[in-house]
Amino acid sequence: MSPEIEKAAALLRQGELVAFPTETVYGLGADASNPEAVAKIFAAKGRPVDHPLIVHLPGVEHLDRWAREIPETAYALAKAFWPGPLTLILKRQPNVPDAVTGGQDTVGVRVPGHPLALELLKAFDGGVAAPSANRFGHVSPTTAQHVHDELGERGNNSVAMVLDGGPCRVGIESTIVDLTGPQSRILRPGMISAADLGRVLGRAPGTGGESAPRVSGSLESHYAPSTDLALLQPDVVIFAVREALAADQRIGVIAPMASPLSDERIVWRQISGEAAGFAHDIYALLRELDGLGLSRIVVQKPPQAENWRAINDRLQRAVAGSGAG
Ligand code: TXA
Ligand code: MG
Repeated sequence: MSPEIEKAAALLRQGELVAFPTETVYGLGADASNPEAVAKIFAAKGRPVDHPLIVHLPGVEHLDRWAREIPETAYALAKAFWPGPLTLILKRQPNVPDAVTGGQDTVGVRVPGHPLALELLKAFDGGVAAPSANRFGHVSPTTAQHVHDELGERGNNSVAMVLDGGPCRVGIESTIVDLTGPQSRILRPGMISAADLGRVLGRAPGTGGESAPRVSGSLESHYAPSTDLALLQPDVVIFAVREALAADQRIGVIAPMASPLSDERIVWRQISGEAAGFAHDIYALLRELDGLGLSRIVVQKPPQAENWRAINDRLQRAVAGSGAG
């Protein structure tokens, strides 16, 4: 075990916060069995305390320490997708602190698919409660630098250590599926799609749980840059850019095509036309452009296809919450 991982696990045991990479986004971790440690997460993020946290586990063998009445479907999904970007909502064990579950009778659990996260969880040998390591309502961090920018190190009630595992492979948050009801339901879409889940479950999960108030990621204002943000069709992108130039404004563009215009008031960032590549880069690009003090950011609207569903979900929320800064 590396000295860095050993130190991080020791800090968790002492009730400190450790930010760590996962395959989706960086998490802000605390010992999930320690309510005082978990309380520090809410303070550091500025997050309302009734919003539940996901418990990250080193392996599926830890599942029954956190969840009870675990259905077969949970084990089937775990076998198919863990370690990986899937969170299961299950009935909780009575020992799970209310601080983690928001006082609900359920708990969210996942085994993350990132080597550093797994090393940390194995060294710690317990559950680590971790939301995305950003200030409440901001865009989730996908690099260690983003975490530093969001939360800094060693402030009051703040982060004791940030583990650097490079840029996150997936780039947007895990799919959340609720297995506590008669039918499985997706609470938050992610890069593991309803069809992927359906292949394992033998039946597509229901949707429509996405507006459940207890899923903080479902609040409209989430994942939002402070610069005004618009999602536009390709031809309208160019129109918006010309309009900005005519008003002598600086504009940011995120689109798969190369910039057809050359002007120093345009900050144009090309992004992949494939869903996986787009998800990988979108948060970092939004964050970069948001830091430039532009009048507006325009993102070319992705296809309305099933494999883009999670991306479209995050982009719509980003648009809804943008411009507040
Ligand atoms: O990919 C991810 O899931 C990342 C990485 C760090 O694992 N984590 C993440 O955490 O996105 P957070 O806290 O930003 O979002 C977790 C979502 C929240 O919307 C929360 O309300 C929901 O999971 N959640 C957690 N426990 C729940 C429960 N028992 N019932 C319903 N929703 C729950
Ligand atoms: Mg979050």
